[in-house]
Amino acid sequence: MISGLFKKKLLLHSGRFAAYATSNSFKTAIEASEKLVSPRAAAATKSKFQDPFSIVSHEMSNLAKSIASLIGSGHPTLNRVSSYYFEAEGKNVRPLIVLLLSKALSNIPLSERQRIPIDEYDVTEQEHIKGTPKFGQASIAGNSVDDSLSPLRILHGINPRIILDPLSKPMDQLPQMDKMNGILPKQRRLAEIVEMIHTASLLHDDVIDLSDSRRGRPSGNIAFTNKMAVLAGDFLLGRASVAIARLRNPEVIELLSTTIANLVEGEFMQLKNTVLSNKEENEIINNDGDSKKVPKPTGKVPTKQHEYSVSNDSDLVDHETNVQAAFEYYLHKTYLKTASLMSKSCRAAAVLSGAQDNIIENCYQFGRNLGLCFQIVDDMLDYTSSDTIFGKPSQADLKLGLATAPILFAWKQDPALGELIARKFKQKGDVEIARNAVEKYRGLEQTKQMATKYCMAALENLRQLPESDARSALELLTNSVLTRTK
Ligand code: FPP
Ligand code: MG
Repeated sequence: MISGLFKKKLLLHSGRFAAYATSNSFKTAIEASEKLVSPRAAAATKSKFQDPFSIVSHEMSNLAKSIASLIGSGHPTLNRVSSYYFEAEGKNVRPLIVLLLSKALSNIPLSERQRIPIDEYDVTEQEHIKGTPKFGQASIAGNSVDDSLSPLRILHGINPRIILDPLSKPMDQLPQMDKMNGILPKQRRLAEIVEMIHTASLLHDDVIDLSDSRRGRPSGNIAFTNKMAVLAGDFLLGRASVAIARLRNPEVIELLSTTIANLVEGEFMQLKNTVLSNKEENEIINNDGDSKKVPKPTGKVPTKQHEYSVSNDSDLVDHETNVQAAFEYYLHKTYLKTASLMSKSCRAAAVLSGAQDNIIENCYQFGRNLGLCFQIVDDMLDYTSSDTIFGKPSQADLKLGLATAPILFAWKQDPALGELIARKFKQKGDVEIARNAVEKYRGLEQTKQMATKYCMAALENLRQLPESDARSALELLTNSVLTRTK
């Protein structure tokens, strides 16, 4: 499941954006931006520790199997669509972070991790709370991440004989491994839930963005249909919600439910008007071959409420204020779209570990900084990568009308670009002008600088945790997020 290329990237850690640059000048720009990575970041990569995956390799290699057991249904086609993105090699960066962070947190002595009562399913072999049974000892039935809270007859619905609830299947051999590795079963389940939420959002995102490829294959909407992709995403969210409930921790339930809402909010903030046909009605052909006329959507999205505050009237708002507002909007959208899931899942991992409030907050900040860095780099790669390397359409943002950091930096220096941003690069030649401006005003270098700032902050957050291999692995991973090429 782990992307070979990404893994290789982590090991080599060479940061060669330029190899995939689309033109020589872009190549130069990226080479220059690479040098902006501070020596401190480079030093952190010289850790004795070489392979982040090896620390949690057992958990990572079981991830797909565990997720498969959470998303099985009695419907073969639904199974096919909802497992589609898990089959292709994804980066699995979110579960990897949750698992490594959980492992790093396990190095905090249990005596300093008493914020929440830890039940016997949460106790690791290395230490245990006085009076609480260890793994292997008799457990209280009905409290594990696989046990339902409601009676199964309720969850199964009207026909309990149809096997529709694979969530009730026991996890195989987990307690033993967790006992050895310090990662709690609930944290492991958390890693799976996070990947399920992320995958659900991708299925929906590809429908919204009219994408045609993902992870080097046709995207879900193309391989199946829009309807199936949307429904499979909904199904994954439903199953993720069941698994969230079974973590039996109200604080974690609140955090993870909020990530789902945040993803939608972030997507809304960058929602673009769909191109509508001139016809009054669209003709839809049903699966049965019947055709049906449906009215075309009447209202456009009320964009004024959630667009960049671009004003060409310098009497009203000065350019600097305008640009600053646009950056704030961009960063808030980026938090909601990407950093929310990372930060809140890191926070959830810390809550489940029983760590104190200051550690929980630090883990949250780590996920936030890493998530912002991750998405800003993604926005930069959109300008520099090729489809083959990226595994999804590259150079898509401008064509989709999206103004991300590189063009915002260019706009800062050239106010005339405001008009292009406001009209979402729709006029002929706009995309080309924007790309040239990014190059002229060193938009990519400045974007890389911005990502570097968040990378450094994330490394600083990690230094608040006790030293361990897991912490070193997270440092390596954090640096790799900055220098990745896909
Ligand atoms: C990828 O962004 C998309 C996201 C990070 C989130 C999408 C969120 C939704 C569609 C809201 C619905 C959420 C759920 C949980 C169902 P991108 O388009 O910039 O990246 P890409 O190039 O990988 O497509
Ligand atoms: Mg997309």
